Amino acid sequence: MSLDVTEIGSIPAAWTRRHLLGLEDLSVEELNILLDSAEMFKEATDDCTRKIQVLTGKTCANLFFENSTRTRTSFSLAMRRLGGDTIDFASGGSSMSKGETIIDTAKNIEAMGIHAVVCRHRTPGTPHLLSNNLNCPVINAGDGPHEHPTQGLLDILTIRQQRGTLAGLTVALVGDIQFSRTARSNIWGLKKLGAHVILCGPATLVSPLWREFGCEVSHNLDEILPRCDVLNLLRIQFERQSTRPFPSVREYAHLYAMDRRRMDRAKDGVLILAPGPINRGVEVTTDVADGPHSLILSQVTNGLAVRMAALWLVCGAAARDNE
Ligand code: CP
Repeated sequence: MSLDVTEIGSIPAAWTRRHLLGLEDLSVEELNILLDSAEMFKEATDDCTRKIQVLTGKTCANLFFENSTRTRTSFSLAMRRLGGDTIDFASGGSSMSKGETIIDTAKNIEAMGIHAVVCRHRTPGTPHLLSNNLNCPVINAGDGPHEHPTQGLLDILTIRQQRGTLAGLTVALVGDIQFSRTARSNIWGLKKLGAHVILCGPATLVSPLWREFGCEVSHNLDEILPRCDVLNLLRIQFERQSTRPFPSVREYAHLYAMDRRRMDRAKDGVLILAPGPINRGVEVTTDVADGPHSLILSQVTNGLAVRMAALWLVCGAAARDNE
């Protein structure tokens, strides 16, 4: 059943944030508002033909200083599904090549009548910097290896849809924990919602310091495999590494790729997630990525709903502040 637009109503009173910069600072209540709102938008737009006119007349600027397929496209689509408009900014070809700073660039774009900014940048903290210098809401679409909050939320939403709750589940994040913003957002969100989190990968990519945050640390996927309800397979972020963290990709795949042999040893009904882009044959083999346990494309579908929720909530909080 599809929701009528009048059923969407105003944003929950408990949501007061005009920016979404990470999951580390969010309360359990705020996480649940985001997840429940995403479910609501998913149901309301399930047939992909309806617009929910809650952000009519608003424009969102996508400021992406790193490449993206899923995040940029789904933020644009989310804004349009909410009745708003989007503009895409690419640093290549912009006046930043003439020395204009990122703050001046963003302020000039905001001066054209922008109501929200979505920012991806290789430097941690860039969306936070913009949030301190702009009047409009800012959403972090990935800041270097720091956080990628909407990715964490869509991963968590995908698990919750399958299992009903995160509480009591054992979720392993496998691969490049050191350089993965997805890992950090997953860790903060999963722990707050009651999951047991295992971080698994080579010692060069998984610090024992994560134990201080209540995570289990393992370097042996085969050992933890039978205990895991969910495996979230993270891409090796070669573009952020100055030296190779393991001797060869082949050796990494031998120890950590999720393949048919490992699926046979995994828990019945194990859920396979991967944030994408996936490198087939490195973190996951094709038969597993495209197999019956894989939720990789469901994650992408959920990403649209999560981004609708994020835009609706931050724009709603900003509008309420300005009343
Ligand atoms: N998962 C993710 O952020 O994908 P993109 O880099 O394609 O946006």
